[in-house]
Amino acid sequence: MTSKSPQPVTFKPSGPLTGKISVPGDKSISHRALILSALAIGKSRISGLLEGEDVLATADALRAMGAKVEKKDDVWTVYGVGVGGLMQPDKALDMGNSGTSTRLLMGLVASHGITATFIGDASLSKRPMGRVIDPLSEMGADIHARETADHKACLPLTVRGLCPAVPLEYRLPVASAQVKSAMLLAGLNTPGITRIIEPVLTRDHSETMLKGFGAQISVETDAEGCRVISLTGEAELQPQKIKVPGDPSSAAFLVVAALITPGSDIVVENVGINPTRAGLFEVLQTMGGDISFRKKRTVGGEPVADIHVKHSALSGIVVPGDIAPSMIDEFPILFIAAALADGKTTTSGLSELRVKESDRLSQMAKGLRLLGVDVTEREDGLTIIGSSGKLLVGSTGKKMIETALDHRIAMSFAVAGLMTKSGVAIDDITPAQTSFPEFENLIAALASR
Ligand code: S3P
Repeated sequence: MTSKSPQPVTFKPSGPLTGKISVPGDKSISHRALILSALAIGKSRISGLLEGEDVLATADALRAMGAKVEKKDDVWTVYGVGVGGLMQPDKALDMGNSGTSTRLLMGLVASHGITATFIGDASLSKRPMGRVIDPLSEMGADIHARETADHKACLPLTVRGLCPAVPLEYRLPVASAQVKSAMLLAGLNTPGITRIIEPVLTRDHSETMLKGFGAQISVETDAEGCRVISLTGEAELQPQKIKVPGDPSSAAFLVVAALITPGSDIVVENVGINPTRAGLFEVLQTMGGDISFRKKRTVGGEPVADIHVKHSALSGIVVPGDIAPSMIDEFPILFIAAALADGKTTTSGLSELRVKESDRLSQMAKGLRLLGVDVTEREDGLTIIGSSGKLLVGSTGKKMIETALDHRIAMSFAVAGLMTKSGVAIDDITPAQTSFPEFENLIAALASR
């Protein structure tokens, strides 16, 4: 990825948000749609694909490994090379800011007889890769990563795949859909059964889509209540036509914007509401948010609905720690909702947020304080005292919010700007391009109706 110069923007109060809109395609499903299509034999078609930088990084990497990936009239066509058919890329794969691209593609390379080097931006290069290196090495891949001063394995790293790899039974030590998916992708080209034991349920898009492509995969619950996912390799995948639903993690910013801004009444159409992703909506409803789901339907095995949201007086709550995996990307925007709620919101069980695109607990605490919010940072969560719907002070001029190359920090504080006296200046809006390039336009469109 080419690095862009930072683009500071100030987000100001806008009046009520009204109207009907839709958000771009789901990021997680878009990555998986491209990857599985590249592994099928023949031509798959994908509509609604997110054209954010993260997903485009996955598309470029798949091209570099031999798949033909092209776009015409809003439909993406992927000519897959078949499981086992990937070619060795002739240069390093640039993953930009995308942890999902990196971890999933590491799994893919691990069981092919090829070698690939992964590089990324400053944020991605700080993120821990040991969690995927461990199981993939047990399957036989030879992986060399840069070791940081605190002994973390980070990018740049090189994966030398083993073909055939060794099937593994592995209990996930962290609740991570990326680790689970990396192993499933490695398992596709591995003879025998790759089995993953998941003590805490994480997003299940890989399992659903693998079934859709015709892989032999079963999901059971064991005596201890863990999910046990068994995949039989070497798989043959059939090309598919995929419709990617709108991303609930992007819709989240508009939902919270409407909840906190007086007079707002919006509908976000065609949003994925898979229960492994929809925790934020449940938490906001518990806080008193007027959120309802219309026209519930299933698209490509994924539950989808139109989400109707009206401005609401929110109350602070204790957010149960066990809901975290189903809203792991939504805490930054939940913290903004909490900052405008009545009373105290307490969150816990969030140490994973410290290893996302930024340390999201510390970046959010710092930014909220700049806006005049009373916030306490603990190792695994934040406690926030809300303003009961009163405008926050804001932060403009030199006191800019530090985005730290994190799209969700940038967009969360942009939403907070709607409910401040003076607005919120953020130091860089360009990270929004990774997952939600239309963000600024959509907020402006809702504000001008
Ligand atoms: C993702 C899984 C989550 C999430 C990320 C996307 C995926 O990461 O934070 O934005 O597509 O599998 P972890 O699996 O590391 O929690």
